[in-house]
Amino acid sequence: MNVGEPSHTAIQVAACRAAHLRFDPAPHLLEDRFAEKLLGADAERLITSYADGGSWILLENRLFLPFRGRFGEDRIAEAHAAGVRQLVILGAGLDSFALRRPPELGGLRIFEIDHPATQGWKRRRLAECAIAEPEELEFVECDFETTSISEALRSSGFRPQAPAIVSWMGVVYYLEKETVRRALAELAGLLAPGSAVVLDYQLPLVDLPQRYHDIFAQQSAYLLRSGEPQVNRYRPAELREAIGVAGFARADLPTREELHQRYFAPIASQIPMSERFGMAMAWR
Ligand SMILES: C[S@@+](CC[C@H](N)C(=O)[O-])C[C@H]1O[C@@H](n2cnc3c(N)ncnc32)[C@H](O)[C@@H]1O
Repeated sequence: MNVGEPSHTAIQVAACRAAHLRFDPAPHLLEDRFAEKLLGADAERLITSYADGGSWILLENRLFLPFRGRFGEDRIAEAHAAGVRQLVILGAGLDSFALRRPPELGGLRIFEIDHPATQGWKRRRLAECAIAEPEELEFVECDFETTSISEALRSSGFRPQAPAIVSWMGVVYYLEKETVRRALAELAGLLAPGSAVVLDYQLPLVDLPQRYHDIFAQQSAYLLRSGEPQVNRYRPAELREAIGVAGFARADLPTREELHQRYFAPIASQIPMSERFGMAMAWR
């Protein structure tokens, strides 16, 4: 990340969530009515950059990134139904789940862990928008490259002896593989049985259709300027193995077809489902 600046990609993901609501027909994959507010003065420019007629990859993101949020929130609801009362959001960015938490998910304590530059910016935006920080939400600063996640969590009200659901969306491909390996091992060591981690990952470019190769240089240049280069990609088998080696009991990696049938087939949008991401669950 660029020193002293919040994550640019976190702002872009929030713009996708706002654009999905504005430009895609209902039913929406995710209804994030806070995203537009939190974006601030630049909201209109950011949101309209995802309007119809724009680049195909922006349209794919407009649909897939809200889906990713929805996938995580469905897993949170399932964990809550199973009795889990702690949610950890790693690299939370402008995630607004804590502000939108449905009343039926009562008693859930939420820990947002993020880079200090992004988290500080988000908290200022909340104050500027006069949005109160929910009582059940605790902010924890952590740079994953330099600070251990378990150390950060141990400095908070997190209770390692109780199970937790951990959401780690849109982050692992910005970290070195060694950092991901270490973080997974730490989480496997820290989390109580019955806990789970839900995350997304990106597939190797060589396994993707030509359209992704054509846009790769342009996309990489943008990410480099933002100070957020994407530095790792996994094949599903490799990620499954990394999760197992870290010490988790089980990994679930739904296929593209399963995700399409469950989430994309029922909606009215004509935008194709992105082929570059995968979703995974690691069970403690
Ligand atoms: C693409 S955003 C995803 C935000 C959010 N999870 C979402 O899906 O809307 C990436 C997030 O990872 C965080 N991040 C990136 N590198 C980090 C690091 N080294 N330590 C802590 N957080 C980091 C950024 O601050 C940002 O919030």
